[in-house]
Amino acid sequence: MTTKSLYKRLLGVGFAAVLGGTATTASAGLSEGLVLFNSFCAVCHGATGEGQAMGKSLVDDGAKGLEDLELLAVIREGRAGTGMAAWGDSFSAEEILDTANYVRAMQGKLGILLEPEDPIAGDPLAVAGRALFNGAANCVSCHTVGDAGGQVGPVLDGVYTRLGDDGLLEAFSKPSASFAEGFPVKVIELNDGSTLRGVARNETATSLQIQSLDGKRWRTYFKDRVKSVSDSKSSVMPDIYADLNRQQREQLLAYLRSL
Ligand code: HEC
Ligand code: HEC
Repeated sequence: MTTKSLYKRLLGVGFAAVLGGTATTASAGLSEGLVLFNSFCAVCHGATGEGQAMGKSLVDDGAKGLEDLELLAVIREGRAGTGMAAWGDSFSAEEILDTANYVRAMQGKLGILLEPEDPIAGDPLAVAGRALFNGAANCVSCHTVGDAGGQVGPVLDGVYTRLGDDGLLEAFSKPSASFAEGFPVKVIELNDGSTLRGVARNETATSLQIQSLDGKRWRTYFKDRVKSVSDSKSSVMPDIYADLNRQQREQLLAYLRSL
């Protein structure tokens, strides 16, 4: 499961739906939590978490007051010297989360919101590179990373795995040295003598499509209605590298390596 769908599932909507008696797909994790709770926890904590002889109430102020991480930790690690076992030995991380969310629902509280972990939080160089990528260097206007970005250039998720150190440096510092697969650039000379350049697709004997510079539209040109069509030797990716200082280059490369 992706972090995103996990994230969605944990939003309060699902809990409200279950508490109101209408199970929806958004509450899938919650119904899993319910099954787990009934099978493994209710015997000691009671069917609605009210507490029994062998287990305390999970809906009293003490249990409600547990921080999300404490709640997860108690279920995962148990409480030494008490009847509360370490469920982490038998539950998966997701099952622990589902069960904890069900406990929260019984408490009438919102589900646990796990902040998706920032994979580059520990790498200040890459963090600075990301800021450049999305900001001053504006790579994001043409390239998508994750959910966001433009469509003129290739999606850069996994680019480091694809290109390695040398390939990455070359693609970034000499965009025209080689074109990424699937991004051939053509020059079209129109009948009025003007020229245009862009990434081409669907070339046939009589026509081809050229991508608009914002990446959003493809326009068809008929070869017999233009003066000429030829291969471009330069990429549509501008040589941004030349305008960056050494530190900025290193930052951007560190970010690209993290993708
Ligand atoms: C064999 C009985 C038993 C079972 C089964 C059991 N618990 Fe417990 N649980 C306890 C006891 C006893 C405590 C109180 C520990 C203490 O004194 O701090 C406790 C404490 C807790 C607490 C901490 C409450 C607080 O106020 O600090 C949580 C949360 C909890 N259990 C959740 C669960 C969940 C979820 C399950 C099922 C996966 C489960 N327990 C299964 C006996 C049980
Ligand atoms: C105007 C659009 C545009 C901008 C802005 C742009 N690129 Fe590109 N980029 C492209 C295109 C188109 C390609 C594919 C053609 C090629 O390889 O030159 C490409 C290719 C790449 C590649 C190679 C990808 C692969 O899969 O082989 C990398 C890496 C890259 N760009 C990084 C960057 C970085 C870093 C920036 C910001 C400093 C940036 N690009 C800015 C359009 C752009």
